[in-house]
Amino acid sequence: MPTSEVNIKRIAISTGGGDAPGLNAVIRAAVLSAINRGWEVYGIRDGYNGLLMPEQYVEGGLIRLTRERVRGITHLGGTIIGTTNRGNPLKYPIKGPEDTIIEIDRSDELIRAFRLHQIDALISVGGDGSMYIANELAKKGLWVVGVPKTIDNDLEKTVITFGFDTACSFTVECLDRLHTTAASHNRIIVMEVMGRYAGWIALESGLAGSADVILIPEIPYDLDKVAQKVRDREERGSLFSIVVVAEGAKPKGGAVSVISRETGGAERLGGCGEKVAEELQELTGKETRLVVLGHLLRGGSPTRFDRLIALRFGAAAVRAIAEGQKGIMVALDPPTVKYVPLEAATKRLKTVPLNSDIMLTARDMGISFGD
Ligand code: F6P
Repeated sequence: MPTSEVNIKRIAISTGGGDAPGLNAVIRAAVLSAINRGWEVYGIRDGYNGLLMPEQYVEGGLIRLTRERVRGITHLGGTIIGTTNRGNPLKYPIKGPEDTIIEIDRSDELIRAFRLHQIDALISVGGDGSMYIANELAKKGLWVVGVPKTIDNDLEKTVITFGFDTACSFTVECLDRLHTTAASHNRIIVMEVMGRYAGWIALESGLAGSADVILIPEIPYDLDKVAQKVRDREERGSLFSIVVVAEGAKPKGGAVSVISRETGGAERLGGCGEKVAEELQELTGKETRLVVLGHLLRGGSPTRFDRLIALRFGAAAVRAIAEGQKGIMVALDPPTVKYVPLEAATKRLKTVPLNSDIMLTARDMGISFGD
């Protein structure tokens, strides 16, 4: 049994932001690694809401995570402790006068709640927003170790985040299915995928799933170029085309398609696929259909790859605490897992480098990016 180098009795785990396949695997690995060191582990319900709004939970806002509680969860999508993207303690939304919503800073109150419950350290599992919050809490003196999660793969300082492989594998399966129906009907099928302001899901799934066109946020598109690609294919006898559109893609000189703006300023993206499908039908005169994968990408059982990274991240986060490391994020730097300062991980989003070999492969194979 590993012994702790530091005097830890109790740690907590929080999962924040959109869920991603692999969260439960992180929880299981962290809980077992901590219990094997003689520590107690608590899961905070729904981000930090379990500590900020404990009265709303019948079972209490903290769940004691025992061996029994984390048994048989590695393969489950979602998170057994819940998550939210509306619980930022630095900008916590509360009811203001006349049905308005105002945001207040509850971070000091949150830190007091950690002390009250005698929680020595926190493992915060989340995307860029959660890592930013974790870093702010760390600056205020909370012992925090971050674990990067997002299907979007847009977090800096880690080569990959868990959830991404599962989302891409499902997208590729969908593309395989769409190919046969598109070919049978000689149609264009436009498929919109998540990914926010980064094109990782669209690019890697589009390439692996033999898309003819991939539109990503990093390359503003021109639909005349896409229509030309469809015509070129027709001339060569391919009467169908598959177009993968990232939700954050935008036309040259245009803006991203936003469904709504959330409290706190975050944009809910969507609608880009619909615009592309409508305009392409007009430009080419070809029957066009749209498929929006949306939240299907966030569900399902994590792939072997995601499970493994998630388990390694969970155990590494506990090792970091045992070594006395603070204010850091666990990161994948193949073949190993390393620690990076939280500050560095939150500086900017990791977008697709246009000279990466994946991009070059796609271009060499004649895939159009609409540019
Ligand atoms: O960051 C993950 C993600 O799935 C994005 O790809 C997407 O834009 C966003 O979350 C949607 O989040 P929600 O519908 O939960 O607000």
